[in-house]
Amino acid sequence: MRFDIAKSGTGLTYEIRNIVGVADKLKDYGKEIIWENIGDPIAKGEKIPQWMKETLMEILSDDISYAYSPTKGVNETREFVAEQVNKRGQYHLRMDDIIFFNGLGDAIARSYSAIRIDARIIMPEPTYSTHLLAEIHHASFPPNTYRMNPYHNWHPDIAELERKVKSHNTIVGALVINPDNPTGFVYPEKTLRKMVQIAREYDLFLIFDETYRNLIYNGQETLPLSDIIEDVPGMSMKGISKEFPWPGARCGWLEVYNADKDETFARYISAILTQKMSEVCSTTLPQLAIPRIMAHPEYHKYLESRNRHYEKLSNIAFSILKDVPYIVVNRTNGAFYMTIVFNEAVLNGKQKLAIEELAVRDYVEKIVDGKIENDKRFVYYLLGATGICLVPLTSFFTALPGFRLTLLEKDVSKFEKTMNIIAEKIVEYIESSK
Ligand SMILES: Cc1ncc(COP(=O)(O)O)c(C=O)c1O
Repeated sequence: MRFDIAKSGTGLTYEIRNIVGVADKLKDYGKEIIWENIGDPIAKGEKIPQWMKETLMEILSDDISYAYSPTKGVNETREFVAEQVNKRGQYHLRMDDIIFFNGLGDAIARSYSAIRIDARIIMPEPTYSTHLLAEIHHASFPPNTYRMNPYHNWHPDIAELERKVKSHNTIVGALVINPDNPTGFVYPEKTLRKMVQIAREYDLFLIFDETYRNLIYNGQETLPLSDIIEDVPGMSMKGISKEFPWPGARCGWLEVYNADKDETFARYISAILTQKMSEVCSTTLPQLAIPRIMAHPEYHKYLESRNRHYEKLSNIAFSILKDVPYIVVNRTNGAFYMTIVFNEAVLNGKQKLAIEELAVRDYVEKIVDGKIENDKRFVYYLLGATGICLVPLTSFFTALPGFRLTLLEKDVSKFEKTMNIIAEKIVEYIESSK
């Protein structure tokens, strides 16, 4: 090359995928891996119901499903999506205020990249990596965050949010993930209304990632942004990756609220749309499937049965882990993740787990040798010792050491066994340096 062509990155990595490389290597050494790292229900054995497959096959037999679609998305689908919001009666959404993307990952990347470089979005900490990476990538400066508090059932620190918004006038918007990834927190109405009030008071717009909006259990309730936003500019991000679940379809959408009430916000939305136009449109097939699947008589029963399963696993994990020393454990009430935090100062760079296979031990010890976060060290040792593949919590951009697991396992007794092993290994690991 005539000169160095690669743009310098942020130095941050996407650990949810990164750890797969390490686990794959251990697989080569004969280790059986229990994948607890990625939020893909299909990869964890979720069976797509026959009625859903038949609906898709019908759509596939129509040639129109092979065509490009309008830039903002298939008209009948946007009408259907708008109707879902409108029938709740709190906000009137026009189909023209809905834009489809190739997965929410695409919507997230485009939404942050259309923001001026010196304008910042404050986000939860820990946070789902794609949002944080996209925000940092656009601004090239460290993020502004508000803490989710593990000592208060993962409730966000609203006072911190307000304090930061008040003192940093570069903050133009706030992100909320409800239900949350990675904590599994479900926002109560009162907290959501307070956030809307802060946005109104400080002239911010709101981004609500509502990917997991229909995956809520343990008797919890919340409200969508459209029900509470009133006259504040904002957008909701929704998709089918987790809900159908069809992550491989790469289909998600933005619902834009109150662009007609704020000229600056309207210009921002039009910048997102201009980017989208250069790409023609998003994948047509999954868009055509949305009204037919969501309106199918079996859909709600299917979602309900999945929610009952996550609820069961959430309670199994909670009851096994809650009395384990050295960690903070909260029950998950939404999405399908559980995040465990280590108590302050219980981890150090010397703890270990016994790993039987010599090649695996050598490999793990090579990785943990050197400067590595304490929770990453635990996660790699656990992987080497047991094959259980978790994600270190610090990869969700927080200083809190811990790990995230999923509630996706289909085999309940296997899940119970995995939780018991994790419980036992936490104690063994912490006490190994005593
Ligand atoms: C909170 C949240 N938003 C967005 C996404 C990305 O979804 P998609 O598959 O539509 O890109 C995920 C995926 O895990 C997620 O957890």
